[in-house]
Amino acid sequence: MAIKNDLTMNKTVYKALLPITLLGAFSLTMVSSAQDKSIKDGIYTAAQAESGKEIYDRICAGCHNQRFYEQAWPGWATRTVEQFWFYIVSDMPQDNPGSLYDDEYTDVAAYIFSLMGYPAGDEPMDPTGAHVDVLIGSPE
Ligand code: HEC
Repeated sequence: MAIKNDLTMNKTVYKALLPITLLGAFSLTMVSSAQDKSIKDGIYTAAQAESGKEIYDRICAGCHNQRFYEQAWPGWATRTVEQFWFYIVSDMPQDNPGSLYDDEYTDVAAYIFSLMGYPAGDEPMDPTGAHVDVLIGSPE
């Protein structure tokens, strides 16, 4: 009698847990697809790059031209979008680091990615969220 009750109990628990297990598998899939994002899928919008250009021309262009980035770029290939973003947030502009809003830095980063030949897409750059682990790699 006791055994039968146990079995019934197990079945009830299993039924109750099943949806949770399925949900777990589903969110794991979501996480892995977020990590599989590639920079070539477009991790910024054209509007962000456009706004970034305006800020860049005003704040950064006095010290860096496009050639500067072309030379420095290979060093960023093994790093992530977040690491690049965080570098400019914490160190640039060199004469007044951290002086822009986070969103302005994001737009500037989008502009630099556009200069380096990476494609724009539908999804806005989110360097501390969706794109935190995306490798910079190379645009080709
Ligand atoms: C007053 C001059 C000045 C301004 C303005 C300035 N930078 Fe810089 N930037 C520098 C110098 C100098 C370095 C090299 C620093 C070093 O190597 O420690 C540098 C380095 C960098 C690097 C790293 C390049 C590499 O070696 O990989 C990036 C990226 C960068 N700057 C982006 C920006 C952005 C974006 C802005 C505008 C928000 C900006 N800079 C504004 C002077 C400036």
